[in-house]
Amino acid sequence: MAIVESDEVAKPPAAQPKLVSVLAEFAGPRELMHAAEKIRDSGFTKWDCFTPFPVHGIDDAMGTKRTKLPFIVLCAAICGGTTAIAMQWFCNAYDYPFMISGKPFFSLPSSMPVVFELSVLFSAFATLFGMLGLNGLPQLYNALFKVDNFRRVTDDKFFLGIETTDPKFNVDQTKTLLNSLHPVLIEECWDSGETRAIPSIFFKTLAMLGLLAIVPVVMVAQLRALPSNLPRLHGQWDMDHQPKLKTQKHSELFVDGRGMRLPIANTVAFGELKTDRSFYNGLQGGAASAEITDAMLLRGAVAANGEPVNNGSFPWVTEFPLEVDEQLMARGRERYGIYCAPCHGYEGDGNGLITQRAMELTGNGRGAWVKPVSYHSDPIRMQPVGKLFNTVTNGQGRMPGYASQIPEKDRWAIVLYLKALMKSRDASPDDVPADVKERLSQGP
Ligand code: HEC
Repeated sequence: MAIVESDEVAKPPAAQPKLVSVLAEFAGPRELMHAAEKIRDSGFTKWDCFTPFPVHGIDDAMGTKRTKLPFIVLCAAICGGTTAIAMQWFCNAYDYPFMISGKPFFSLPSSMPVVFELSVLFSAFATLFGMLGLNGLPQLYNALFKVDNFRRVTDDKFFLGIETTDPKFNVDQTKTLLNSLHPVLIEECWDSGETRAIPSIFFKTLAMLGLLAIVPVVMVAQLRALPSNLPRLHGQWDMDHQPKLKTQKHSELFVDGRGMRLPIANTVAFGELKTDRSFYNGLQGGAASAEITDAMLLRGAVAANGEPVNNGSFPWVTEFPLEVDEQLMARGRERYGIYCAPCHGYEGDGNGLITQRAMELTGNGRGAWVKPVSYHSDPIRMQPVGKLFNTVTNGQGRMPGYASQIPEKDRWAIVLYLKALMKSRDASPDDVPADVKERLSQGP
């Protein structure tokens, strides 16, 4: 009892009740619509219709203007799209230009997915918050909620309310006007003038929840900070730790903790027996090449210890380790066109389309692109076929290896075609077969 008393003492003096609006109840949607047309025509602006379901045509009857929401959403969408373009341009073309195979640093088509996503995101937010804003929501209190009759408006009652703040409002005249529209009844809606302050229980509950929310954080902090013999806490143990193998990932399955396994010593997997060093590595067999490891072939000019290895001195094969015929040459030419020409060019000058485009784009010092060497220079022309084969297999300097894309036989076919390309700029009359020479000397 004492508490209630003290509560009442703390209240500010009760304000005067105030008339907020005049409500008229109508028998059904048709009557309401008719009344709405009349009120619209008498020039009222601050009034509304309340119905238990959407009434078709009420917007026109009330003279409601189309909502501004679509324009707000359109502006947000344009804003989102522009943000997406600006962001991608800044990241890809301005702040960190990165050359990928002669592709432009920035282009509209490739930016479209992000433009789409951000436009949709911004519009969704604009739709939600725009709708709330235009409707003046959230609104926790409305004097109408205190009118007993009005409660049934969500069930089966139809109301029209005119607010006292309307410039044309005058209690008596407005009531007379409403009366002339044959309402079921007319009622006044009063605001009691009670304080609008949020009840203190709301804040007390919020404070309690806030306190409770700290508990899990404290528990986590304690578990992290203090040593414990218990296994770790896991909300979903089997989702985090599945006994399966993932590439490059740790695994509990094996003692050494590796997910990826090394080949078992002294065993060979099916199809992996590659003893023919000349065909598979371009090296002559025997003691001379036994010392040369895959790693030394792979790193090209740098050995495992970082010292430069002059792989020019490796015992490369100088003859093709497979039968050479026109078919192999044709195959090599075709594969060269697919895998090498984009960078090196069809004639092997190092002027492929990708190179041309990349040089053009990186011309002003943005990004970097290494121009491929020309095959028609002595150091390359002199290389034994085994060395050329290794370049295609493992790459060289800035050029990547193509072992994963091109099978061995095709690699040799490409090397054969390379040799033909080099010959095309470095041939003597003696290289021309006798019958062809005769035909050539006859002229056209
Ligand atoms: C992505 C572009 C690119 C492609 C595709 C490419 N190369 Fe290269 N290549 C280069 C570059 C760049 C160099 C120069 C590397 C360096 O000096 O760092 C090079 C160098 C070479 C060399 C000279 C290596 C040496 O000893 O200096 C040969 C031979 C060669 N490439 C052959 C090929 C063949 C054959 C193919 C097709 C299977 C091919 N390249 C595909 C970019 C490419």
